[in-house]
Amino acid sequence: MAPHFEDFSRALTRLVDAHSDEPRILDLGRALLAKLVARDDWLPAEFAQPHPQYYSQYLLYCDPRQRFSVVSFVWGPGQKTPIHDHTVWALIGMLRGAEYGERFAVPQEGRPMHSLGTNMLRPGEVDCVSPSIGDIHRVSNAFEDRVSISIHAYGGNIGRINRHVYDAQTGSRKSFISGYTNEPPTIG
Ligand SMILES: [Fe+2]
Repeated sequence: MAPHFEDFSRALTRLVDAHSDEPRILDLGRALLAKLVARDDWLPAEFAQPHPQYYSQYLLYCDPRQRFSVVSFVWGPGQKTPIHDHTVWALIGMLRGAEYGERFAVPQEGRPMHSLGTNMLRPGEVDCVSPSIGDIHRVSNAFEDRVSISIHAYGGNIGRINRHVYDAQTGSRKSFISGYTNEPPTIG
């Protein structure tokens, strides 16, 4: 991986070595991620490949103690996530193109989910979510005709974490584990 990315992963390691409180990690981590996505000349092409049907999430780095992971999210034209949560802190930095993030209030089961509004993220900008500041959102490529890429850092090994997708109409939730695009499927 490029030195620019290695500088970031080392700096994030030092950050979680020094701090465990989430507000501090989000505040200082936001600045580190902004520095990473201020440049778009470092992401290897293999981690920037869109899939024709599904958005892709490539693991770029996982802390050996699983305190954080870093993923490239590659959106094909018009692709979007379901409404989902993370259960850990997450920093989202826009590298290429643009995306919409729509936040939702914690649902009351049986009722339609309440949108808290939609934000557009442009290259160089960073957003964050977490259980303490609002953890439920839906993300989509802002473009119907081109690929967008964002870089995400999460407060755990996100591809292994049991979390949830939500039904917009009923607020009911289902467990899921996302895995990563760049690994073979597991059995069972
Ligand atoms: Fe998310």
